[in-house]
Amino acid sequence: MTLSVTRIGKTFVGEVAGIDLSKPLDADTVQQIKQAWWDHSILVFRDQDLTQEQHVAFSQNFGELQGHTVKDWLLPTHPEILVLSNRGRGGVKPLENGGAYWHSDITYEAVPPMGSILHGLTVPPEGGDTLYADMYAAYEALDDQTKALVDDAVAIHNYKHRYMLMAEGGKRPDPTEQQLAEWVDVEHPVVLRHPDSGRKALFVNEGFTVSIKGLGKDESNALLARLYEHSVRPDFVYAHAWRPHDIVMWDNRCTMHSATPYDAESYERTMHRTTIKGTPFQHQAAA
Ligand code: OGA
Ligand code: MN
Repeated sequence: MTLSVTRIGKTFVGEVAGIDLSKPLDADTVQQIKQAWWDHSILVFRDQDLTQEQHVAFSQNFGELQGHTVKDWLLPTHPEILVLSNRGRGGVKPLENGGAYWHSDITYEAVPPMGSILHGLTVPPEGGDTLYADMYAAYEALDDQTKALVDDAVAIHNYKHRYMLMAEGGKRPDPTEQQLAEWVDVEHPVVLRHPDSGRKALFVNEGFTVSIKGLGKDESNALLARLYEHSVRPDFVYAHAWRPHDIVMWDNRCTMHSATPYDAESYERTMHRTTIKGTPFQHQAAA
């Protein structure tokens, strides 16, 4: 079977047609999906009414799956699935403003995920798009001076800052002792050499990056603010307007994403996410 992939949006999203993800896939098809994923960074599949088991099985074609530091968001029946729902479904508490800021998933861990696969089960008729940013394009569009500044830089990431902002806003319970112990600073290159494509991507995000190593606080904040603003210029952004049973899979090493508002009083929005473990990053000098 030859996969049909059509580029949608600007530059980095492919819509894949003619495939039923509920069925086991042969090795050749999985290889074609991987290739399309490296080529596009984001793949969209429409009309895939997957059960939890099928979602997990499809995801496992790309690697081992991982959970989340906030165990309350994982499905008791399938802890590989994280539930983002304003109604609370499957025994998981309602989640307000999940991912409603620019981020890549779980970059506050030493080895961030390779990617995530999100299934829209119930989506509002309007609003609630997910925005995605192309971090290859963002890197490539930097001026030479900024590239020189960031090429070998290292950033510190930590979940604590983000979580406490949410907790102080009453949107998250107080952290547990175990979580506080888990949330330590980790370091990642500011510019990644993508292990599969070999291309360079900017790898800092407003969600979880706290500083640039070796810079003073003001200088670090100013540089990060400039990089964030640059990364989400309309040229680099795709807005995904969800239909029920869309599957969107993103490469977490070369994209960022952000949830957007919708009328949560009137509408349900329930999404299931699986998260694929990554591999350790190489720093530029070693690449
Ligand atoms: C996620 C996430 C955004 C959304 O699933 O990791 O950030 O729009 N989701 O639901
Ligand atoms: Mn996310």
